Amino acid sequence: MTQRRKKRWENQELISMGRREARTAFYDDSLTKISLNGEWRFLYLDAPELSPEGFQTPGAAEGWDTIDVPSVWQLRGYDHMHYTDVLYLFPVNPPFVPTENPTGIYKKSICLDAAWLKNDTILKFHGVDSAFDVWVNGEHVGYSKVSRLPSEFDITSCVKEGENDITVRVYKWSDGTYLEDQDMWWLSGIYRDVELINEPKQVILDCRVDAGLDDAMETGIFTMDITLKQPSGKGSWVLSYHEEEVLKGTYETEDGKAHIEAQIPNVHKWTAETPELYDLTVTAGEDAVSIRPGFRRVEIKDNQFLVNGQVILLNGANHHDYDPEEGRTVSYERMKEDILLMKQYNINAVRCSHYPSNEYFYDLCDEYGLYVIDEADLECHGFEWTGNYKWISDDPGWREAYVDRSVRMVKRDRNHPCIIMWSMGNESSFGCNFRSAAEEIRKLDSTRLIHYEGDFEAEVTDVYSTMYTRLKGLKEIAETEMKGNKPHVMCEYGHAMGNGPGGLKAYQDMFRKYKRLQGGFIWEWYDHGIRVEENETSYYKYGGCFGDFPTNSNFCIDGVLMPDRTPSPALLEYKQVIAPVEIHKVPDSRTQILLKNYYDFLSLDHVVLCWALEENGKAVQEGEIRTLSALPHESETVDIPVKPFEIRKNKDYYLHIKVCQKYDTNYAPAGHEIAAKQFDLEIRQDEFAARAAGNELTVTEENGILTVANDRITAKFHTVFGTLAALEKDGKTYLTKGPVMNLYRATIDNDMYKKDDWMNKYFIQKGSEQTEDFSWEKKENAVVVTIDKYFGCLNQSWGFECSYVYTVYSGGQVKVQLTGKTVQNGKEEPAFLPRIGVIMEADGSLQNTAWYGLGPQENYPDSHAAASMGIYESTVDGMQTSYVYPQENGHREQVKWFALSDETKTLLCRTEGGLGMNLSNCTDESLEKARYPHEIERSSDVVIHLDYRHSGLGSNSCGEEQLEEYKVKRQDFAMTFTLEIVGRDEILEETGKQYLD
Ligand code: GAL
Ligand code: MG
Repeated sequence: MTQRRKKRWENQELISMGRREARTAFYDDSLTKISLNGEWRFLYLDAPELSPEGFQTPGAAEGWDTIDVPSVWQLRGYDHMHYTDVLYLFPVNPPFVPTENPTGIYKKSICLDAAWLKNDTILKFHGVDSAFDVWVNGEHVGYSKVSRLPSEFDITSCVKEGENDITVRVYKWSDGTYLEDQDMWWLSGIYRDVELINEPKQVILDCRVDAGLDDAMETGIFTMDITLKQPSGKGSWVLSYHEEEVLKGTYETEDGKAHIEAQIPNVHKWTAETPELYDLTVTAGEDAVSIRPGFRRVEIKDNQFLVNGQVILLNGANHHDYDPEEGRTVSYERMKEDILLMKQYNINAVRCSHYPSNEYFYDLCDEYGLYVIDEADLECHGFEWTGNYKWISDDPGWREAYVDRSVRMVKRDRNHPCIIMWSMGNESSFGCNFRSAAEEIRKLDSTRLIHYEGDFEAEVTDVYSTMYTRLKGLKEIAETEMKGNKPHVMCEYGHAMGNGPGGLKAYQDMFRKYKRLQGGFIWEWYDHGIRVEENETSYYKYGGCFGDFPTNSNFCIDGVLMPDRTPSPALLEYKQVIAPVEIHKVPDSRTQILLKNYYDFLSLDHVVLCWALEENGKAVQEGEIRTLSALPHESETVDIPVKPFEIRKNKDYYLHIKVCQKYDTNYAPAGHEIAAKQFDLEIRQDEFAARAAGNELTVTEENGILTVANDRITAKFHTVFGTLAALEKDGKTYLTKGPVMNLYRATIDNDMYKKDDWMNKYFIQKGSEQTEDFSWEKKENAVVVTIDKYFGCLNQSWGFECSYVYTVYSGGQVKVQLTGKTVQNGKEEPAFLPRIGVIMEADGSLQNTAWYGLGPQENYPDSHAAASMGIYESTVDGMQTSYVYPQENGHREQVKWFALSDETKTLLCRTEGGLGMNLSNCTDESLEKARYPHEIERSSDVVIHLDYRHSGLGSNSCGEEQLEEYKVKRQDFAMTFTLEIVGRDEILEETGKQYLD
């Protein structure tokens, strides 16, 4: 057999052709540049070999389409959208790729004048996916790959005065694709900026800056390596701080290079909390580049990593480049919004998962203060499923390809103080090529740490990194000497797919407790939904929605931000869990607060403590304390000066503490809330207050309906089915279906591995009640209806013996006391249940909601750090969280009362002790069935869930299950609540009051 001929894009040993040496990204505003963004002619082909003859020559674009650059062609109507997590879309036969290889030929004509031509012309692509050839005026000038890194070509010898033709041929598949199998949409094209740079004969080609610190962490150690284009040259430099000159000097090159060292006493230090930057201008003749150095030192000491001598904890997020309309083309503005949001939500670190981002992303991280793990564009996850995961990672024939990806990243980004670790890639097993990459990175830059999760033994990395480690495993890592005792980071955890994750606090507690654990990065920042508009409905598509197969469906909808950047409840939760100030109550004290300062560099003198004494969620006393001073990693106690107050019946008293910014920062104004916590003062005096008695209740029975009524209320019971059939007043039915037991919730993504058991084995969605006994008796000012029932699910031996006791008071209230005794006559039963509760329905006209409980946003037992007890108002629709993929949502915990109103009247439900609540305009079945929000079928009545207990969310779509304490086990239970119909005004004022009149 003859050896198969390798096409250019099937040769991993061919790293590039004609491409300039990678160099640091810096700003050179003294140079003239032409942006080549905008319209290009475009020819889409099924294979590169189908390129028309002479396509690379000027004028060949007749009849071609046009396309805007930057963009991905799949979102411009070419090729098709496809999402996979792990799978390559073709046979694994490296370096060969499919003959059917979608190809885009781009062409642009650019007019250059004589003045321009005095200098050199550099063509710079910031990102092209996945490999591409370039021709200028018909001449081949180069070839490059690595989709998420820039490529520059010196095209001076090909350009001329007048029109110049630039042709770029982009290949969807290349040998590089084997190294770009990240979990994301497959997208192609010129998707980042393109520019032409007018470069004088003498310029600064490269300028690498290391800005470190001496051992005392006081003096800045500044080194700079300048490379000029010409072998000999000279220039000057100035380093300033807020426009004040700090140091300056001149230099002269030898062989085109100059090395400068300087020291800056009492230097302002960069950290994510204090992003102090200097301004550096370096000139060479007319040429002037600007760089923003930040002085800081990253090192490992005593098995921990330190920044500026201080142990730090990473509270991070994984960030992909993503835009709901543009795919991986992301504007500066959008990135800036991301960075601002991260800062506002207490995030202090970001991992560029899983490739280098746009150059300006790092400028923003420098400026606003985020620690960055910069990750090489390298993942070959699909090999795992071939049973030969190491195939190319351990094949020396791929060495250059692996090393190139790390080296070019380091060369581009090394001036950025924000980067504290270089990551060699993601999910690519381990082998000699990673050993080489680590070696090459260290040669280039010894001032940062090396990360790669796939180095399971931490053989060449500086940190031991794992992902989705369960708490048990994490504890083992924390407590055992292993993996060279290197400090540990969780490069991914807290899979934010759909509703969830819950249980984040348990991780944060571990990170804070154990020395070895230095934090983690939540997976991930965005839901990668693709916005579409059909029939005037806008919604987001995920894998499979474009007919793509195979796919991992909505596994890409796993961010703490919705595609339109609305923070999901998960982000609010994460913010509180990682908040740098932990608020505790001093045990046995009522109003003494302990603040733990988890900032690594800031003392608490930059925050204000705002406190309020709340009665049923409303402030009755409040104040501010502005004299906090705890040093980093220390605590302080604060006495809250609460004055004596009257304790009223049926009221809760809370101490609500907020820690807010004292001053403006560049990402949030003074007053911005950093952390908040509410403490129950536990001084409640409960008393059931029956309303004044009304007219005598009459009891009639007809056609299986028992009616208990007077002028205040009509309660109808079904004597056969044993239910409260309706609650009416003045001829209108408010409660249209009384309580029946329910254990099921519309499957959340984090329950994906339980769903089959729950729904196809234990049939928890198929529960039903059997009436055992129905009786009633008249009491003073009340009628008591007692119904005994059995509740169970289809073909199950386990269930509940239930007793419903309804007391209808002549004052108009209906008290429901439900008790359930668990029964098991066989052996099989689910490990736990989504919930134990009841389901009811109210008339569809009751769309206004109010409640006193945890809120305002949805919350669950293992995810309510950001919720507080209060009285909130909304609408039934307004209480839903519209997850891209429909699932259980909108639950509120500890609800003491809720109200459903139309314009005049209210169905009021008051619970004893607080219950879980959910109000929605759809049934659980329709939620379960829908694939998009607009497919959720609206029900005619409002569906009400009241839960004795609701299971936590967990993070089990990829990670830890619900913790044991958040799993609802089969158990005896009792729940009590009261229903009545009152005037709406009463509710709007202060609903609790009516029980006291
Ligand atoms: C990790 C991987 C991520 C993503 C995540 C699941 O294994 O590194 O890229 O696939 O799982 O969403
Ligand atoms: Mg992967």
